[in-house]
Amino acid sequence: MFADRTSWNLTTNRLAKALSQHRAKGRPLFDLTVSNPTECGFVYDNGAILQALSNPAATIYQPEPRGLATARRAIAEYYAARGCDVPAEDILLTTSTSEAYSFVFRLLCNPGDELLIPAPSYPLFDFLADIQDVKLIRYPLFYDHGWEIDFHALERAITPGTRGVIVVHPNNPTGHYTNSAAMKHLNGICFAKNMAIIADEVFLDFSLTQELHPSFAANREALTFTMSGLSKIAGLPQMKAAWLITSGPEQWKSQACARLDVVADAYLSMNAPIQLAVPSFLQQRTAFQEQLMARVRGNLRELDRQIAAQDSCSRLEVEGGWYVVLRVPATRSDEDLAVDLLESSDVYVHPGHFYDFPSDGYLIASLITPEHDFAEGIKYLLARF
Ligand SMILES: Cc1ncc(COP(=O)(O)O)c(C=O)c1O
Repeated sequence: MFADRTSWNLTTNRLAKALSQHRAKGRPLFDLTVSNPTECGFVYDNGAILQALSNPAATIYQPEPRGLATARRAIAEYYAARGCDVPAEDILLTTSTSEAYSFVFRLLCNPGDELLIPAPSYPLFDFLADIQDVKLIRYPLFYDHGWEIDFHALERAITPGTRGVIVVHPNNPTGHYTNSAAMKHLNGICFAKNMAIIADEVFLDFSLTQELHPSFAANREALTFTMSGLSKIAGLPQMKAAWLITSGPEQWKSQACARLDVVADAYLSMNAPIQLAVPSFLQQRTAFQEQLMARVRGNLRELDRQIAAQDSCSRLEVEGGWYVVLRVPATRSDEDLAVDLLESSDVYVHPGHFYDFPSDGYLIASLITPEHDFAEGIKYLLARF
């Protein structure tokens, strides 16, 4: 009855089962996986948010494949404020970065074509790729006082069917940015092999260093698709507003934009009230990002204080984003460990293998966890070792 692309293993994984049993028992829970910013105790200007949704212009239907110009101009200003020149015409609005990925996958790939993705990284890619009949090939990142792309492995992974390289900038959950040398290297490879760069920058603004990390949105050296959205930038995932920017050598860029227009025109998925609210929502980002970064910095300080008081566990360097990678003794599988931490210590963390870590001994904690839960959760977690 159904297409092979949807023949996923739909059984609940062991950790998810253990979590629902834990909740059913009414046990306390120190949830170190929280990533929904609307449930983390941040203060939003609800008046301004709701007012932005009641623009009378929303009573008129203006079908625009790339999205309303007012929204695209506000996004161009967001990049201009970062010193990055992005013409509003090169921006296309989507309801999520997932939708942006789908458009780009459809634009670039015939069924069975390949895209390179980093490992470790964010687990959603597999489903997005299955739905679009794209084959994902992993290229490893390696850690040596910071994360780097293994370019030898990346180049070896390229086949005649490879259409592009995905970079997450900064990556989830490793928290590293693609530095300028790596950008240059990627540009050289992608230009030479007629491949595109697909850059996911949803965490771009959440840098822990003073450095202003350049966006891929201004990249002209290879065909580049840069995506981001309000779900992280302004902490508004419920608003379903994201964008896709096309840049690169003119002959590729103009063709890509024209083809994407047809894809977007076939869906016209953005609704009017949200598009009209985008400029106002983007203004909310400053207050949101200040609170979020204060939380992230505070939790990292607390983590370092607790780590310094023991010698079994450590953490990896983090340059930005909302997550931290913990290095713990690899005495059993990460999944066994995560289930054990839940059952015996009421602590819920993600095992590294959810994110394709190459070996056991890694746990991922969310740095936007409310401070008290974070401190207690880390205390009970470290006490297990
Ligand atoms: C790296 C990365 N990209 C994209 C997303 C999803 O963003 P959106 O809500 O815009 O689909 C997430 C969500 O956690 C993410 O971690």
